[in-house]
Amino acid sequence: MAQGFAFDGQSLITPGQIIRPNDHQNLPSSDQLILAKAELAIALDLCLQQFQSGVDPHAIIRRVTETLHQLRRRFHARIWDEIVPLVQAHPVTDFVFQDPFTKWSFDKPRGYSGDAHLLDFIYGHSEVEGEIAAATELGRKIYDYTKDASSSVAVRERRDLLARRVDDIASKHDDQIEVLAVASGHLREASLSIALREGRIKRWVALDQDPLSVGTVTRDFAGTPVEAINGSVKTLISGRHKLGTLDFVYAAGLYDYLADGVAVKLTKRCLQMVKPGGSFLFANFSQATRVDGYMETFMNWPLLLRTEDDMQSIAENATGTDDVSISVWSGENLDVIYCEIKKL
Ligand SMILES: C[S@@+](CC[C@H](N)C(=O)[O-])C[C@H]1O[C@@H](n2cnc3c(N)ncnc32)[C@H](O)[C@@H]1O
Repeated sequence: MAQGFAFDGQSLITPGQIIRPNDHQNLPSSDQLILAKAELAIALDLCLQQFQSGVDPHAIIRRVTETLHQLRRRFHARIWDEIVPLVQAHPVTDFVFQDPFTKWSFDKPRGYSGDAHLLDFIYGHSEVEGEIAAATELGRKIYDYTKDASSSVAVRERRDLLARRVDDIASKHDDQIEVLAVASGHLREASLSIALREGRIKRWVALDQDPLSVGTVTRDFAGTPVEAINGSVKTLISGRHKLGTLDFVYAAGLYDYLADGVAVKLTKRCLQMVKPGGSFLFANFSQATRVDGYMETFMNWPLLLRTEDDMQSIAENATGTDDVSISVWSGENLDVIYCEIKKL
């Protein structure tokens, strides 16, 4: 299972805070470091030459993404930690950073990884049209690739799945339903919900720690049952919000930043807010993803990757002997895993 600091659930995760499981075991030899650095130099220098000679940017990014994935997988975490800044300082970034999505992720204008504006690059939302139009031709071509990388496809599937889940739950209730999105970002899934459009939602609470995202949700969903509130994992766990109980509570794009201890506490808390017969769903990026190396280097966006067993274990630790049913499954391309806990 993923290990790490016991984040307090409020401090935002920045690179360097995420620790991989085997950090302290079987420390690597210096030969391994030399080998990894040599392989990296060959791959990045080739990448640079190819950009300079006008090779198809999709082919370049595809190859370097796979190379970085293999390096991350094959070498010890300590070696990988030395590789990351070398990639980030390499002249090839002059080309790769022309992609406005990669550049936004690397720069972190909001001070933390994975903000909702970054997700809008994945959703292809109109909010980012100006930035894409202002990019260079090469930047737009790279974005064409990164927006359709497996991780991006999986995040769009996640948004669609959440909207369908809300609709499905609403269709099984005679009364209007109540929903809570934890770490809602811009709550883009709500625009896809038929139940919201048809007035079958009583309230859809969108909680996020970022006041800019709370402001965007307030603006975009004015006059609907969506209520945006400022709050964090910490304020939620401490019971500061009086939200009552709801039919469906979910968290997407959040557990990837939470160490196991906090993940279990948050799961317990969210389940307390679920009505009998309702459910809590959380998603997490999977260890099966092959874009981990690109994300951690060029995007400076490390995540706590989990397995289906890790998700099951968070759910079991959070529920103990409670009367619940737990389902764990992977999305279509396996990059994102889901766990839904239904209160019986
Ligand atoms: C990757 S985005 C996901 C947004 C949205 N759920 C989606 O799937 O598009 C992560 C969101 O989590 C929020 N977030 C990060 N840490 C948080 C915390 N400790 N408490 C509440 N929100 C948090 C960020 O502000 C950001 O909006």
